[in-house]
Amino acid sequence: MTEVRLVDIEKRYGGFLALPKQSLTIEAGEFLVLLGPSGCGKTTTMRMIAGLEDITSGDVLIDNDRVNDKPPKDRDIAMVFQNYGLYPHMTVAQNIGYPLKLRGISKAECTARVLEIAEKVELEELLKRRPSELSGGQRQRVALARAIIRTPKIFLMDEPLSNLDAKLRVTMRAELKHLHHELGVTTIYVTHDQMEAMTLATRIAVMREGRIVQLDTPKKIYSEPVDLFVAGFIGSPSMNLIKGEVENGFFVAKGVKIPVQFSDRCDVVLGVRPEDLEIVERQRANIMAPVYALELTGDATLVTIKDGATSICVRGPADFEANIDEVCHIAPRKPEKLHLFDKSTGERLNS
Ligand SMILES: Nc1ncnc2c1ncn2[C@@H]1O[C@H](COP(=O)(O)OP(=O)(O)OP(=O)(O)O)[C@@H](O)[C@H]1O
Ligand SMILES: [Mg+2]
Repeated sequence: MTEVRLVDIEKRYGGFLALPKQSLTIEAGEFLVLLGPSGCGKTTTMRMIAGLEDITSGDVLIDNDRVNDKPPKDRDIAMVFQNYGLYPHMTVAQNIGYPLKLRGISKAECTARVLEIAEKVELEELLKRRPSELSGGQRQRVALARAIIRTPKIFLMDEPLSNLDAKLRVTMRAELKHLHHELGVTTIYVTHDQMEAMTLATRIAVMREGRIVQLDTPKKIYSEPVDLFVAGFIGSPSMNLIKGEVENGFFVAKGVKIPVQFSDRCDVVLGVRPEDLEIVERQRANIMAPVYALELTGDATLVTIKDGATSICVRGPADFEANIDEVCHIAPRKPEKLHLFDKSTGERLNS
């Protein structure tokens, strides 16, 4: 298994600083997910590891071997590109089998492997087509199949499931997870889908404007986001972020009064996830506001209440019923699931 180290790596495009100097170690056998909004530098990071992009300064080490000047083909990396990168003149089967052909594997073995992988990504019916005759999601699966047909030192996957429908995405996610379990190949995976990040990653690096703002296990990132950016990015529906202040042991905002163990302070933001709130009777309520919207998801009802500028979502039971504008009473399930942030810096205040 292979370790990848980025040491004091920096990337500039002319005058534009895409990635400020930083270091990151991807441990051998790890499934590291780079998660962040569009333009934050995920693809650039991957391309530098693959050798497709020059590094402005710093080093890329693959198993302690400095590879800055090594061409991509000598790095033993299989990559799924965001734009697929398929060979237009080749059929699906030829595209998928290409990495094996390059390695001089016999035609019979190649054909058998192609069929095996094509079944995994549900493409076995389309092997004779060319990329121009495929849908976006089908092309994406060809790219994925081409990457996973052999066992490289490192997998780099840039949004490999972004164009698949919801059901296929979940199936492919499980395939990738199983593949990682089976082969244990060090994988760096880019997504802006936080659900994909949570389910696949051994660790997630949350990026913002070129910087890694939090690097941790999915569990820790979910339960202890370091700042408002991470708090708002991870989780669906998003964490409620309520502006207010701490006064005499209570967090207070319009319609909200919740006991917190924190010293008095203005300009804070209380974060609480919809599933960490519950609908209660009036006497136990810490939050009271009229119902603004009800959304049945099947196994739950998402209840949004709104009082002035403050809007709060709570995950209620599937059989919950209320009229719009009717006052709803809410309380946090557990005090340890409350997060406090500094409103101006965005930093987490409680541990
Ligand atoms: N060749 C280039 N020349 C100049 N700027 C570039 C170049 N390639 C990327 N950038 C800039 O670098 C930043 C990071 O781009 P990158 O493609 O890594 O983002 P990303 O996180 O992959 O985004 P997305 O989720 O949209 O794919 C962006 O601001 C982008 O505009
Ligand atoms: Mg990208």
